[in-house]
Amino acid sequence: MNSMIEAFDKIYHHNDMIRVFFSPGRVNIIGEHIDYNGGLVFPAAISIGTYGAIRSRTDHIIRLYSSQFTLEGIVHTDLSNLSFNQKDGWANYAKGVLDLLKKRGYELPFGFDLYIEGNLPTASGLSSSASLEVLVAYIANELYHLKLSRVDIALLAQEVENDYMGMHCGIMDQLIIACGIKDKALLMNTATLEMETSNATFSQYQWMIMNTNYQRKTTESKYNERVNECSQGLKILKEKYDIKYLCELNLTDLPNIRKMIKDDIIYQRVKHAITEQDRTIQSKEMMTKGDALGFARLLNESHQSLKNDYQVTGYHLDTLVEAALNHGAIGARVTGAGFGGCAIALVENKNVLTLKQQVSQIYKDLTGLDAQFFEVTFENGVHEVK
Ligand code: GLA
Repeated sequence: MNSMIEAFDKIYHHNDMIRVFFSPGRVNIIGEHIDYNGGLVFPAAISIGTYGAIRSRTDHIIRLYSSQFTLEGIVHTDLSNLSFNQKDGWANYAKGVLDLLKKRGYELPFGFDLYIEGNLPTASGLSSSASLEVLVAYIANELYHLKLSRVDIALLAQEVENDYMGMHCGIMDQLIIACGIKDKALLMNTATLEMETSNATFSQYQWMIMNTNYQRKTTESKYNERVNECSQGLKILKEKYDIKYLCELNLTDLPNIRKMIKDDIIYQRVKHAITEQDRTIQSKEMMTKGDALGFARLLNESHQSLKNDYQVTGYHLDTLVEAALNHGAIGARVTGAGFGGCAIALVENKNVLTLKQQVSQIYKDLTGLDAQFFEVTFENGVHEVK
């Protein structure tokens, strides 16, 4: 809190009336690439995320600064000029939120100075952008007394990502960042937005997040391509099935689906969605039973499906996951959109240290890159830091 106020002071030369907020990142345990297919997903909000220090102004000026993107400097705009501008970089996420609120008819009577600092690696599958969008939406809700619920905030942030930023993502990231619960994960039905709180740990094991530190530039376009392939599959299947989403179908439908979808790639995408939905349902049972090995098997199957059928992993993620499995992890998989970024592994407590050492070495030898490890706790959703 104090260091945020000091940093704010350095940039804006004020240190009074400042409020500080925290918005977590997220890790998805299982249920990948199905939140835009009406699937069940299993994410948790994590202890690394985005902090925002804010001070209201009396005029309509908006000033935005992020210590993670110092090249942009202080992005200066005002409430009547919120359209997307390439040169504003990261600040577009914040502008997009304000822009959408205005378009929805909310009154934003004054501007603010916002200082952002974060410890989430960006573009790495831990939802740094959703963390920022939800942070700004939550702050605006507090500042302007908009009376939005946490689910409203998530939906608003998703719309910004979809329409203002052009990434056609599902609702998982924004929803878990808005609604996360300490020490728990949430099972989210993305068709109905119903959420169920769940334990997310096994005794004697811990979750480890592993960053490939490999960032692909084409993530957005590849992601949108997958969304598009799924909707092509859905369109074909709707001719016979009375469904709204791919994840309403079951494993037993697959032989028939194979006959209906002639295109191999589209079939593979649909197959991933349906099998991943099944794995997520099973993972809930494994968690309830405390069956770590059974859960780990589902993680491994999920990775294989994302590698072979959905094709969103790639050399760096596959190498990291394989190295972890060969050196003490009982299960491991890509988390988030993929194409680089992070994986998670379930590791017996006593193996954590050696796993890190050995995996670092192997990954460095094979890719020339340094892997990064995070041992996070699961946390509450976005909130004010008092
Ligand atoms: C990104 C998107 C989410 C989700 C994941 C993949 O994080 O923002 O909506 O689709 O990828 O599960």
